[in-house]
Amino acid sequence: MGIAMMVPSWDGELCTVRFDRETGAWFVIAVHSTRLGPASGGTRAMVYPSVGDAVSDATRLAAAMTTKMAAAGLPMGGGKSVIALPAPRAALDGAHWRRILQVHAANVQEFDGTYTTGPDIGTDSADMDVLRETTPFAFGRSTATGGPGSGAPATALGVFTAVRAAVAEAGLGDGNGGVAGLRVLVQGLGAVGARVAELAAEACAELLVADVDPERCTAAAARGARIVSPTEVTRTRCDVVVPCATGGLLDARVARTLPCAVVAGAANNQLADADAALVLARRGIVYAPDFVANAGGAIHLVGREVLGWTEGQVTRRTLQIGRTLQWVFADARTHGITTEQAAHDLAARRLTHAA
Ligand code: NAI
Ligand code: PHE
Repeated sequence: MGIAMMVPSWDGELCTVRFDRETGAWFVIAVHSTRLGPASGGTRAMVYPSVGDAVSDATRLAAAMTTKMAAAGLPMGGGKSVIALPAPRAALDGAHWRRILQVHAANVQEFDGTYTTGPDIGTDSADMDVLRETTPFAFGRSTATGGPGSGAPATALGVFTAVRAAVAEAGLGDGNGGVAGLRVLVQGLGAVGARVAELAAEACAELLVADVDPERCTAAAARGARIVSPTEVTRTRCDVVVPCATGGLLDARVARTLPCAVVAGAANNQLADADAALVLARRGIVYAPDFVANAGGAIHLVGREVLGWTEGQVTRRTLQIGRTLQWVFADARTHGITTEQAAHDLAARRLTHAA
């Protein structure tokens, strides 16, 4: 294999990689596009197999943020931060974690507003409070400090709205988006997934849950959910799969046998390869493109921090995700394309129009 083939290509604008010897952490910031406005996207902090994997995750996630902002009609570009930790966050002591956040804040500050971060896997509003001690370019600081809080509840509301739209498209339930009696499998019971599970249970769905953290499953089981092993998520018969963990759940091979009728969830980059969407569509499985379904967090953070929206305006805009998806489903049907393609086309039109 030649050298050129070993260097991955990317259509983004800038990617920085830094190492901090004191903490042993690697810091990746990827700015994919500033065409619609300054780039924004959360900070993901976790352990990666290699620095290359962290760069690959950051660049792919940043591209997804560009598409998400465009599809949601928000005046922002796409970016993402990844902190490759030397050990799981739970194993780091408070001072170590704080130093990691301080280094990250200094890196974000150097972008001077071209990139603003926010919470994602492994970070929360309290962490944004720490970043804000160094840089103003962090969305979602805690309500206790006067911030709007994390976008996770809005993301969960948007995802549940997406589940309803996709269920109606699939002709399941009462045909009107009701999920009563449907088997809804939520993968990942973190900030977003736990709330989606609550919303599904409140709507009388039969709830199935999977998480690598057994305590989170036990808590859900105490409220009536059935626990599924994390390795069995894509083999468990159900009506709706709701991916709310890390991405990459579905490749074409998994899509060929996935025993469900709907996929609609929060995880960014759920499709691991380009053919997965095609296989799902051919099997009649309704897929709600992740970057449309999970835009509630971005709507909350950008709405509150940039556009000066009230919580009511954020909620109304988040609920519009259902209408966007109805449009995407109809466009896919009309043109014989996948829902993923239809949603990408929608985002691309907004990006081209802005240019
Ligand atoms: P989180 O870190 O709070 O929760 C993730 C959960 O997934 C944890 O409970 C974790 O134990 C579990 N998990 C990890 N690997 C798993 C596996 N293989 N099988 C089952 N469970 C597993 O993260 P959060 O904030 O809930 O985000 C979830 C997903 O939604 C992420 O992909 C994130 O990028 C995406 N997202 C989050 C938004 C937000 O507002 N927080 C907005 C848009 C997307
Ligand atoms: N990380 C979340 C997402 O992927 C929320 C977020 C949106 C964070 C926009 C920062 C900026 O949508």
